[in-house]
Amino acid sequence: KQRLSSKKEKTLAMIKPDAISNMGQIIDLICKTGFNITKLKMVRLTKNEAFEFYQEHQGKPFLETLLSFISSGPVIAMELMGDNAIGKWRDTLGPTDSSIARSAAPMSIRARFGTDNTRNACHGSDSPISAAREIEFFFPTAGINRQNTAQFNNCT
Ligand code: TYD
Ligand code: MG
Repeated sequence: KQRLSSKKEKTLAMIKPDAISNMGQIIDLICKTGFNITKLKMVRLTKNEAFEFYQEHQGKPFLETLLSFISSGPVIAMELMGDNAIGKWRDTLGPTDSSIARSAAPMSIRARFGTDNTRNACHGSDSPISAAREIEFFFPTAGINRQNTAQFNNCT
């Protein structure tokens, strides 16, 4: 049974191109933090696909830098499930800027595996609406992707 303060949630986690070489440690950490990895894929996004994913940042000064970086190599997208998964994954990531994360949250993923404000190792959805859109982006609800593997906990 769930406790009153907890809610089973899904979030979209993404290992960015700069952290692909550390995928083993990052996936190990995801498991040890108590998430269930319910979907996973490695893919290289085109710049247009990266823009679709990051559409909320249209007009921001860093958009071009962000899209070039995200499309520069493969990423690993994961649907994570767990209690308060959205906030918990954001906490595990630490601050957006890895150089700030190293002083503010030295054990965080962005502190350990990222470099700066752009090359920051991993992405996490920031709300239930973003999570739903981002999960559908990587794992469209059609064909073989319809299968729900959430009942299998692959980390315990
Ligand atoms: P944002 O949604 O603000 O951060 P977060 O990933 O923590 O939700 O920004 C999205 C990504 O854009 C961020 O992970 C890295 C990149 N970015 C830059 O390249 N420069 C910047 O100044 C900012 C704020 C973000
Ligand atoms: Mg964000």
